[in-house]
Amino acid sequence: MVHQVVTVDTNPYEGQKPGTSGLRKPTKIFLEKPNYTANFVQCILDCVDDKSCLVIGGDGRYYLTQAIDLIIKICAGNGVKRLIIGQNGILSTPAVSCIIRKRSASGGIILTASHNPGGPDGDFGIKYNTSNGGPAPEGITDKIFKLTKEIKQFKTVPDLSISIDKVGTQEVVIGTDKMIVEIIDSVDDYLELLKSIFDFPKIKSLLAKPDFKIRVDSLNGVMGPYATRIFVNELGCSPDSVVNCIPLPDFGGKHPDPNLTYAAELVEAMKSGDYSLGAAFDGDGDRNMILGTKGFFVCPSDSLAVIAANLKDIPYFAKSGVKGFARSMPTAGAVDVVVAKWEDGDIKCHETPTGWKFFGNLMDAGLCSLCGEESFGTGSDHIREKDGCWAVLAWLSILASRNQSVEDIVTSHWKKYGRNFFTRYDYENCDSAGCANMMKQLEGFVENGSLIGKQFTHKITQNDNFEYKDPVDGSITSKQGIRIIFSDGSRIIVRLSGTGSQGATVRIYVDGYTNQESLLTQEAAIVLKPLIDIALEITEIEKFTGRKMPTVIT
Ligand code: G6P
Ligand code: ZN
Repeated sequence: MVHQVVTVDTNPYEGQKPGTSGLRKPTKIFLEKPNYTANFVQCILDCVDDKSCLVIGGDGRYYLTQAIDLIIKICAGNGVKRLIIGQNGILSTPAVSCIIRKRSASGGIILTASHNPGGPDGDFGIKYNTSNGGPAPEGITDKIFKLTKEIKQFKTVPDLSISIDKVGTQEVVIGTDKMIVEIIDSVDDYLELLKSIFDFPKIKSLLAKPDFKIRVDSLNGVMGPYATRIFVNELGCSPDSVVNCIPLPDFGGKHPDPNLTYAAELVEAMKSGDYSLGAAFDGDGDRNMILGTKGFFVCPSDSLAVIAANLKDIPYFAKSGVKGFARSMPTAGAVDVVVAKWEDGDIKCHETPTGWKFFGNLMDAGLCSLCGEESFGTGSDHIREKDGCWAVLAWLSILASRNQSVEDIVTSHWKKYGRNFFTRYDYENCDSAGCANMMKQLEGFVENGSLIGKQFTHKITQNDNFEYKDPVDGSITSKQGIRIIFSDGSRIIVRLSGTGSQGATVRIYVDGYTNQESLLTQEAAIVLKPLIDIALEITEIEKFTGRKMPTVIT
């Protein structure tokens, strides 16, 4: 059957601005506003020069399959030559990155709102990744945004219907052209990559020990099928080691964000002392949280530093070498301390704005092998997205090499390098105007220098709005967060989230370093109390947002 391309008239929408990681909006907007998805996808395709092959998949949330059906039609209308789609539309974000790279695709479209809740009353999202497997850089997302404000027509093939529930390849004829649609197993490519990175037999022996049990919680997100294949089928864990492992359209009502608040069920289960390691992922599988026995929390900034200090336990780094490190600016500086002691003095730790896309350039240029963010993201240059399962396997590799618990590994790390205490206060979904005013006041302090020299427990020595110059392409990204830095190196950082879908979310980050042995195992909340009080005082957050307490404390 020969299908024909149809050009459809449409009207532009305000606000289709890709945030930190793609376009994220309440699902209702995608459902109720005519052509909302079609417009955005057309604008993506208008920015893509090479339309030879796109990878498509998402995290299983509500509206996924309808969105994929639409995307297939619009890709067909725009002359895309080949589509690679996860079976039933399921692909984790790291899997998409892996598949783009492995199969030399020209890019990919990921359907996810990451850690935001899903369902008709939750969020949906669309993200474009480029041929390196990473999120599109700002130059491209700005161009997409510009086009969304001007779009008048999109091209589609309305009568094309492709079923995505069976693995296999189909060829369709569009006018005088052909398009190939390949439905692939969601896990195969990604599993193969992980096997080339880690010593699976060694991890398997650790997991076979009768006193070593793990609990992996997929929070009803995309990671369920991956966790089952990898931990149960490949590594021999008992089936009850993986929980909440069926991707549900509304994540079973859960908020699929792996932190102490939203992964409370895992935290509770860990308290039993039955498990040596606990892990949770977010909706699309790029974030991770690591817990030790009895729920010992590994702060993501520490997780990055511990992995950095133990790279020798991961075969991949022996093969590919260590080229450098990176962390996002608000991430605590624990990894910097490891890098400062690195034997090879040329190895650097780059400090980037929030958002994984900034690591991609460094990796492509061979400047970064391992990177991470305080927002529960860890990963390496094996792909160009953060990778939740990679982080769990990295921890299992370290545990398999050392006869110590998670907690002992972390505390002995602190003894050797000192500890960066870290906490983050999130004030979610606040009134946007109030938050804008608060940021304006903070920017005013930066401009007039009024905070510099102020004496609190320590003196403020630096106050700026973080600006990043990409060392590879020289591009400058400014206004990435207000930094208040004290004479002892401790930092308060304030920024607005770029991933919320409505209102504004304020994040206050506090990072304080000590190598005083008596303090190392204290509660972060106690040690950081003076800095937190200073942060609340300087920001006047309660006055501007009306919130007495944060929504989430990490
Ligand atoms: C996404 C990105 C991360 C980033 C995070 C920040 O998860 O992939 O790279 O760190 O968003 O979110 P925020 O809400 O703080 O802008
Ligand atoms: Zn995510």
